[in-house]
Amino acid sequence: MSDGDFEGYGGRHVPEPLEEPLDRLAAAYDEVGRSEQFQAKFRDHLEEYAGRPTPLYHARNLSERYDAEIYLKREDLLHGGAHKINNTLGQALLASEAGKDRLIAETGAGQHGVATAMAGALFDLDTEIYMGKKDAERQKMNVFRMRLMGAEVNEVTRGGAGLADAVDAALEDFGGNVEDTHYLVGSVVGPDPFPRMVRDFQSVIGEEAREQMLDRTGELPDAAVACVGGGSNAIGLFHAFRDDDIAFYGAEGGGEGPDSDRHAAPLAAGEDDVIHGMKTRVIGEDVDVHSVSAGLDYPGVGPEHAMFRAVGRCEYAAVTDDEALAAFRELSEAEGVIPALESSHGVARALQLAEDGEHDTILVNLSGRGDKDMETAAAKFDL
Ligand SMILES: Cc1ncc(COP(=O)(O)O)c(C=O)c1O
Repeated sequence: MSDGDFEGYGGRHVPEPLEEPLDRLAAAYDEVGRSEQFQAKFRDHLEEYAGRPTPLYHARNLSERYDAEIYLKREDLLHGGAHKINNTLGQALLASEAGKDRLIAETGAGQHGVATAMAGALFDLDTEIYMGKKDAERQKMNVFRMRLMGAEVNEVTRGGAGLADAVDAALEDFGGNVEDTHYLVGSVVGPDPFPRMVRDFQSVIGEEAREQMLDRTGELPDAAVACVGGGSNAIGLFHAFRDDDIAFYGAEGGGEGPDSDRHAAPLAAGEDDVIHGMKTRVIGEDVDVHSVSAGLDYPGVGPEHAMFRAVGRCEYAAVTDDEALAAFRELSEAEGVIPALESSHGVARALQLAEDGEHDTILVNLSGRGDKDMETAAAKFDL
């Protein structure tokens, strides 16, 4: 599977001029990115700059309430407030070792843009972020944070002015500037080598969580749960447990419901198609891509998830905006931990599983913290 083929999903569906730079990137990743020397530097940055390892937290109040042991992997405690920094440190280090002097990235919620701006500052690389105007307006603070750290933010007005349009704009920039620019893709999406490279950089999440569960309980959990936008925090959690007898659950942005015409759930309610250089699951043209969380608001999904769905390794469900908001509030009240709206989808799915009595021990990836979502939440809850 080293060529990025996930049982017929994935691959590299790009215009001819992008083939060669992607070949060079794949070679750099395989030869340099996987070397012991590179990995040692990467680990140092994860510890010293990003704050790894993150804690595994036993959510005792929720566990008691639902009569199941619920554990949270606290990626929300990383520098920047989300798992995105694991990937941006890895790719920026690789770009810097390959002699590039410019980073570009797309962003939806702004978390990946912020994490790219951090890595750009750390490695002293020029950084330009593409963000849909619609997202820039609902995540103003993140736009300001990016600019404060020296990144240029380009607001994209074409199409629906959302994440998919930002990806298109970034791909165009990359096509015209392949010599000096690295396109720092923010999830396990896009043409090869991005899905496998981003997965490897994010797999530190599951590696740590697996060891922490064994240390703490002497056993592995029965289930691992994560929200799925492009799918990087979920794959990052699942990868280390791939060969274990553990159920995987992915929670997509169900918006107003998978049967409505406003959702972002290509796995639970989509079709096979090609988007942004990969073959994967994509939501239908008649659907308005929508989720209350900007980070799940994407029409496609990483090809490895499409494969997991096809072979039955992971069960994907569409969690609606209302269900996610209820879990957002419940975790805040029960444990004093305010999750990102994206992560709240995973929490909601975990609570449903606990309620159904399906599993005794459930590990949930808390991919980010909720600070960026206060305005959205304040408009929903009359407190
Ligand atoms: C906190 C958080 N969780 C999850 C996601 C979704 O991305 P992915 O599915 O790649 O983990 C985002 C995207 O912006 C995010 O900010």
